[in-house]
Amino acid sequence: MLKGKKILLIISGGIAAYKSLELIRLIRQEGATVRCILTKAATQFVTPLSIAALTREKVYCDLFSLTDESEMGHIQLSRDADLLVVCPATANILARMAHGICDDLATTALLATDKPVMTVPAMNVKMWQSPSTSANTKLLRARGVILLGPIDGDMACGEFGPGRMVEPEFILSAICEHFKETALLSGKRALVTSGPTFEAIDPVRYLGNRSSGKQGHAIASEISRLGAETILVTGPTALEAPYGVSVVHVETACEMYQACKAALPADIAVCAAAVADWRPEKINAKKIKKSGDPPAISMIENPDILGFLGNTKLDRPSLVIGFAAETGEVLDKAQKKINKKNCDWLLANDVSLGTNVFGGETNTIHFISKAGAEPWPKMTKKEVAKRLVLRISNHFREVPTNNG
Ligand code: PMT
Repeated sequence: MLKGKKILLIISGGIAAYKSLELIRLIRQEGATVRCILTKAATQFVTPLSIAALTREKVYCDLFSLTDESEMGHIQLSRDADLLVVCPATANILARMAHGICDDLATTALLATDKPVMTVPAMNVKMWQSPSTSANTKLLRARGVILLGPIDGDMACGEFGPGRMVEPEFILSAICEHFKETALLSGKRALVTSGPTFEAIDPVRYLGNRSSGKQGHAIASEISRLGAETILVTGPTALEAPYGVSVVHVETACEMYQACKAALPADIAVCAAAVADWRPEKINAKKIKKSGDPPAISMIENPDILGFLGNTKLDRPSLVIGFAAETGEVLDKAQKKINKKNCDWLLANDVSLGTNVFGGETNTIHFISKAGAEPWPKMTKKEVAKRLVLRISNHFREVPTNNG
């Protein structure tokens, strides 16, 4: 199941560290290699010698060991792995990870890595429930770090509650599941647009819309999680860059169009951005003065990015997906859009006043393809992203679906 995979296991200093020995055995049984870094505190609970015997690899303990650095520097150690697993993860190491502190080899490797990171927290109930740990784990999750557990149980300290580490068998299946998922879109390249565009009227004013980027960013994040190289071209939003995604920031529709063209070739294109259809024909060099009648603004049409991606003869992504934001006769209008823009799938959403789709957390989609329209229930935007991206991966695996 894990044949050829390389795991970098970081063992921090908690009583549950002894369970990492069993985890090493299980991972190796599945065909993966395991290299280990022990924090100073971890060496109080397990010995480098027993870890070396189990992994049949050199064990790394000290950031400033010149021998370690000449054999395999901390950067290479973290880059050479397919996955970093921190097990057990103490409150201390989670805090240091959340705040970018790198004062030993373990945290330096974690900061330097460009690979997915899984953590397996284990600590006293009160430490797990403390506001600091909650804030740290929230930050880490938002940055794409995977957290497994903890679960409720008896603690070594005699207390009962959440804080107990999940068992090694559970960690192994999560690792296997991770590799299964990240293989789904591996080798694919995806382009996603998100957010609004701003079209300047003068140095102060612009025409914009209420898109928050939540839907587009969630899609980019999910596509990247399933292993595709993902480029997100986004208009101005207040959102953080999704983990593992290359982000291109733009302001206007014309800039978004150029950035999308530059991102080709791609296998997948998802246009979730709310692109302005028109822009002021001319941007006033100076702030328009309030005098006399309100100014008339003459508008010209913006490039249609989705239309370009769907219709281009050169480098057309093999799966082009658009959205349709409608305020009535949703299905009829969406059907016309899918034909005009020549996209393969279209996600139509009703954005009438009161739906709160623009800017809100949820969305209600009609999924339209050549096979017809399929209503999806109201979901969070993250759930919409998961459902769509699973469908994308099915499409590429040629698993028959009912969407054509
Ligand atoms: O950002 P959120 O707050 O999370 O809100 C999500 C959303 C409502 C913005 C999203 O779900 C959505 O509907 N995005 C498309 C908005 C839109 O511009 O729809 P449209 O029907 O006007 O355009 C149809 C399609 O053409 C869209 O895929 C759009 O990205 C694309 N388009 C439109 C105009 C243009 N010049 N270029 C384009 O690529």
